Amino acid sequence: MREKNYRQFLENPTFVSRYIDQNINWYVSYLAGRRGIGRLWRYPFAHLMKSFFLKNYFEKRVICGIVDIPYVEIVLTTKCTLRCEHCANLMQYFSNKMQYTGTLAGVIESLECLMSKISSIGKLRLIGGEPFLFKEMPQLLDYIESKKQILTYDIVTNASIDIKEPVLQRLKKSKKNCKVSISDYSHVSGVRLKQMSIFENLKKYNIPFTLLKSETWVKTEKIYKRGRSKEQNIASFLACYQKKCTSLIGGENHLAPKGGMFVCGVASSLAKLKGFAEFQGDYVDLMNDETDKILEFYARDFYQVCDYCQDFSKPIEAVTSAIQTREVLQIGQ
Ligand SMILES: C[S@@+](CC[C@H](N)C(=O)[O-])C[C@H]1O[C@@H](n2cnc3c(N)ncnc32)[C@H](O)[C@@H]1O
Ligand code: SF4
Ligand code: SF4
Repeated sequence: MREKNYRQFLENPTFVSRYIDQNINWYVSYLAGRRGIGRLWRYPFAHLMKSFFLKNYFEKRVICGIVDIPYVEIVLTTKCTLRCEHCANLMQYFSNKMQYTGTLAGVIESLECLMSKISSIGKLRLIGGEPFLFKEMPQLLDYIESKKQILTYDIVTNASIDIKEPVLQRLKKSKKNCKVSISDYSHVSGVRLKQMSIFENLKKYNIPFTLLKSETWVKTEKIYKRGRSKEQNIASFLACYQKKCTSLIGGENHLAPKGGMFVCGVASSLAKLKGFAEFQGDYVDLMNDETDKILEFYARDFYQVCDYCQDFSKPIEAVTSAIQTREVLQIGQ
């Protein structure tokens, strides 16, 4: 692609908000750092950088065809210890037979393929399902720690299982800006959580963590193909709260064998549930697509998969977070 084509991305408002602004915001919080006395001077410095430098910096890199991924979630497994009726990653649609769990080699291969095309990942989020069901977590963390291109990472857990000793040991030794993010489902009746022992262990090993408090969620309406017009899907996508998520998942042998990078957790889960074929063109094929495809991916104004979701441009209902269901939900036609 010639230089003038890269410049076109900078004139695309969706690209600017999903890529340039997200990179700037991520970098500001990275520079400002963790809470503590050092923030007194780091915070104004980060904002000076934002005002005078960062926009120009990230724009110049786009013009040179250099890709910095601001944020990406990697789905280690679709298995979960809970079954939330409104899970934004659609775990409530996976039957036992359909479950996906990556292998250590497979997850590393996906990340290697992605990193061969890009310069950096601002924040990598390890996610599921429940990511602590991924047995080779210590080895995966060893790998992540060894990669300069991955600048920060976190693991998001529902706090239903204790974090095992080898994982605690690995996180304790971390040289990166990393943390455990704990979704707070303590208001949900009938679920057994290990929050207290998890907090104790994280404090004992001096591992940074945050409690993600959110008593209400966006209601995830039933998933089925709506058959909306392109214009309606664009409006829905632009209003969607998940449009900046970016979700990487292991692939299929014949299509995207090393995995794909999708717009969000709905998209990566649907590709697993319905097969990658239906969503060709919607995702970055980590093995075969060129670097430019990643910038194009961020410039899209909707994805075919958005037609499976409720219309986010209409008023959205809130529900109590993490309400449980026993049912395996079915995707409609
Ligand atoms: C899909 S979960 C996966 C990680 C882990 N199982 C957990 O629940 O923390 C990732 C994050 O998405 C949030 N989430 C899930 N469904 C949501 C929804 N419908 N609306 C808003 N946030 C949601 C969860 O609270 C959690 O912090
Ligand atoms: S939101 Fe609930 S169902 Fe979804 S992954 Fe997290 S704990 Fe599991
Ligand atoms: S598929 Fe599209 S509309 Fe649905 S949650 Fe993801 S970004 Fe939003």
